[in-house]
Amino acid sequence: MNSNNPLKPAHVTTRRLLDMKEKSEKISVLTAYDFTMARILDRAGIDVILVGDSASNVFSGHNTTLPITIDEMIYHAKAVVRGVQAETGRAMVVTDMPFMSYQLSSEEALRNAGKIMKEHECDAVKLEGGKVIADTVKRITDVGIPVMGHLGLMPQSIYKYGSYKVRAQEEHEAEQLLEDARLIEEAGAFAIVLEKIPSALAETVTAQLSIPTIGIGAGQSCDGQVLVINDILGLNRAFHPRFVRRYADLGAVIEDAVRHYVDDVKSGSFPDSGESY
Ligand code: KIV
Repeated sequence: MNSNNPLKPAHVTTRRLLDMKEKSEKISVLTAYDFTMARILDRAGIDVILVGDSASNVFSGHNTTLPITIDEMIYHAKAVVRGVQAETGRAMVVTDMPFMSYQLSSEEALRNAGKIMKEHECDAVKLEGGKVIADTVKRITDVGIPVMGHLGLMPQSIYKYGSYKVRAQEEHEAEQLLEDARLIEEAGAFAIVLEKIPSALAETVTAQLSIPTIGIGAGQSCDGQVLVINDILGLNRAFHPRFVRRYADLGAVIEDAVRHYVDDVKSGSFPDSGESY
C-alpha cells in the first residue's frame, strides 16, 4: 500500500476550517472552473476553491445553473484540482453537485458524490437545501465524503422562487433557515454557504453553529466569504449586484488587448522579425 499522505502539509482540510472558525480567522473562498485560474488562486493564497455550478452561467452561457451535467462538473473540477496541484497544493477544492444529481434519492446522491470524489481528487462536494436533503447529507458524510451545505438563495430552485431577491426576510422563513442550518450541521456538513440573506440572520446562524458559515451577500458576520471569480474580475460588466466587490476590470483590459491584436494583424505589424523564425 502506498502510505504517502496525498495532501501537502499546508493543504486546507475540513479540520483546518473548523480551527479557523474557532480562532475567528476568516475563510476566503472563490470559484474557479479551469486549470489556469485555479493555479493563480492557489498561488494567491485562497483557502478554498469552489468549482461552482455557476460554471453553467459564466462558463457555458446558460441562463441558470440547472443545465450543467455531472460529467461537465467533473471536467471542470479535474482541471481545477490539476491547477492547485501544479502550484502550492494548499487550497481545498469543493465541487458543486449539479441539479438532479442528488435530489432523487440518497442512494443516487451517494453514487454521484462518490463518482465526483473518485474521478478527481477534490476534497468535498456541495449540495443546496435544508431539511429535505438532511438524510442525504448524512448518508454521504457517513461514508467519509465531506459535504458543504448551501442555504438562502439556492440557484437550483430559481424556478420555484421566481427571482434572485434576498431570501428569508420574513420571520417564518428566517426560523426555517435556522432550523435547516442546524439539521445540515447535525447531518455532518463541515460548512454551510449562506447566500443572499439579511446580515442579522447570517450573524445568528453563524453564532449558533459550530461549523463555519461562508457568506455571499450575507454580511460581515459569516466565518468566510465566497464570490464568483468572473464577478470580482469584472469579466461580466452587465452583472454588478450589491454584494459583489469588483477588484479589477479585466473585461475592459482583455477587450483592449484584443482590439490591439486585431489592429496589428490587419496592419501587418504583427508578427515582426523578432517574433518570427
Ligand atoms: O455555484 C456557485 O458559484 C455557488 C457560489 C456562488 C456560492 O454556489
